[in-house]
Parts: sequence; C-alpha cells; structure tokens
Amino acid sequence: MSETKRWVQVTAVENIPLREGRSVQIGGHELALFNLAGRFLAVENRCPHRGGPLADGIVSGAMVVCPLHAWKIDLATGSVTNRQENQNCVKTFRTRVERGVIAVELGLACSEDGEPAAECLGSIAGESCIGQTTSSEV
Ligand code: FES
Repeated sequence: MSETKRWVQVTAVENIPLREGRSVQIGGHELALFNLAGRFLAVENRCPHRGGPLADGIVSGAMVVCPLHAWKIDLATGSVTNRQENQNCVKTFRTRVERGVIAVELGLACSEDGEPAAECLGSIAGESCIGQTTSSEV
C-alpha cells in the first residue's frame, strides 16, 4: 500500500451554512468543513488541546473557537492563535468547489496497482464519492 493524493467530493455547498462548520467522515479522515462566506476551508476535526470537535466551534473571522476550552484555531494555517506556549497545529486540507460540490484533497491509501483502497474515492465528476456529514441539519 502507498498513499496518494486524491480530490474527494464531500457535499453540496448549501449543506455548509454560512459561518458554520460541519463534521465529515470521509476516506478514513474526520474533517471539519467551514463556510467562510463562500470560501470553504477544511481541517481535521480534532482540537490539538484535548481533541474537541472543531466543527462545533464558533467561527470568528477566519478562525474557529474550540467549543471545549476556547482555543482559537486559524482555519487557513491550522495554527493555534491564542496560546503562545502551544506550537501544535491542526492538519489542514485543500478544498475546491466544482459544479456546486465541495471537494477536499486527501491522502489516501492505494493498493499495489494504484487503485484506491477505500470505498469513498473517485474523480470529482463521480457520483459515488460523496462523504457523509455527521452534524445535524445536513
Ligand atoms: S479541547 Fe479544544 S481547547 Fe481544549
């Protein structure tokens, strides 16, 4: 098995409300996907402090405030902005929108022949690659 980067369709843009986050399980990753006024950003859905669910945090500008202990995470860089003593970062993922669908670039395990090993993979045009959002209202 090796790892390769693939664009994976996640959900329609209208499923992520303005200035909110939603958690998404896809390709073995749990992501937090945010809508910053039409700009979609994705980070791993796990706060570097104690694993709080960042998708449930309050969005402030280009940051999310963790719902557990209020650490602020920069959604573009993944860095913690209000704890100078903490250099931990949250993993970030590139996103793009095509035909109203948000796609995220993921590192995914592949078999020896280069075929994706997970079931939730495919091209941006495929219909079978939509991940499952797990927060309410989606
Ligand atoms: S778990 Fe996020 S600030 Fe503590």
